[in-house]
Amino acid sequence: MSSVLLNNKIVNKSYKKDFPSLCHNSDGAVITYLDSASSSQKPAPVIDIMTRTQRTHYANIHRGLYSWSQETTNLYEGTRCKVAAFIGGDKSEVVFTKNATESINLIASSWGADNLKADDEIILTEMEHHANIVPWQLLQKRLGFKIKTIPVNDDLQLDLDAYKSLLSPQVKLVSFVDICNATGVINPSSQIIEIAKKYNPSIKVLLDATQGVIHRLIHVRKLGADFVVFTGHKLYGPTGVGVVWVNRDVLMAMSPYQGGGDMIDNVAFEGTIFKEGVERFEAGTPAIIEVIGLGEAIDYITNIGRENIFKHEKEVFMYLNDRLREIGSLVLYADKAERTAIASFNIEDCHPSDVAMILDNDNVYTRTGHHCCMPLMKIMGVEATIRASIGLYTDKDDIDRLCEALGKAKRMLL
Ligand code: ALA
Repeated sequence: MSSVLLNNKIVNKSYKKDFPSLCHNSDGAVITYLDSASSSQKPAPVIDIMTRTQRTHYANIHRGLYSWSQETTNLYEGTRCKVAAFIGGDKSEVVFTKNATESINLIASSWGADNLKADDEIILTEMEHHANIVPWQLLQKRLGFKIKTIPVNDDLQLDLDAYKSLLSPQVKLVSFVDICNATGVINPSSQIIEIAKKYNPSIKVLLDATQGVIHRLIHVRKLGADFVVFTGHKLYGPTGVGVVWVNRDVLMAMSPYQGGGDMIDNVAFEGTIFKEGVERFEAGTPAIIEVIGLGEAIDYITNIGRENIFKHEKEVFMYLNDRLREIGSLVLYADKAERTAIASFNIEDCHPSDVAMILDNDNVYTRTGHHCCMPLMKIMGVEATIRASIGLYTDKDDIDRLCEALGKAKRMLL
């Protein structure tokens, strides 16, 4: 990969050149950004379209007959088409929310509240993000159904035999993560969905594709899930926009989640008639600019080609794991499992926060903590891990800088 000179430092050109934050050189620092699983950096076209729209033709959508409103509406609705094409669905199945968390809350509050009863059961997994646990617990408090969890084995992979034994006539929903944000473990999602549907076709399946949609192909139709959720800000788009894809048949039977403007056909004090399709889940003025930014992010990814991104990420990720395994006293979690993009580790006898602070001192940015997966951390027997996560702009030099800083941390702390 070719290189550029930044403040007399050689930096791999790679895709970094498209990301202004990774190329800025005001204080001469080269930033090693290894927290993409938390939130990705943004490419220039995403930043530009958001600024340009507001500078040149900003207006509210769906409401104005004047050109600016129509242009903005076209961009907003254009993103719905882009998202649908990106995940192999139809635009009539794509709802915009503010993030993946809101997407799951929408499903719980709408489909869940209408369909779950006290005697029912739902299945989650031990590796879920809090966003796929807490909304169900809130609903459980109101409705009283049972929450069961698929356990993880010693390699921190899902135990599929245990999963099969959890299925029962009472199970109405299986909701699970495609790629674990805390460990990078890739789940056999097609198989998990197939098992549920084979057991009982009326079981609904929710796939949390928040990490999955970035690092592998998610084709909603081929997967056969009923709900697929993800967020924009990890997919090189802005914060404030999430997606919930709902199979059309399921969507048409769902009640609105929030009430307000733009989701109705007629309002009277005697009663309200809601719009028929996805619009009835988007009450009020939505995150117009953010949705437009997400559309641009999808174009950016599509132009590079997902196959090229995945190939690059695979190479960098293998290098990351190889380099981490060379570091003595380092525990790499889920090392034997199939993983991508995320490496979670600790250095024996060192507090992860101390390590992260030393890394930060060398401009190496990682995430330390429970990664919003406290139940999984408990099973792993730790309170926190250090997590290095890569994006399409990460290169082997980033990994070298991480490992150099980890060596320094070890020398200082041990
Ligand atoms: N869920 C995000 C993460 O994994 C914030 O870091």
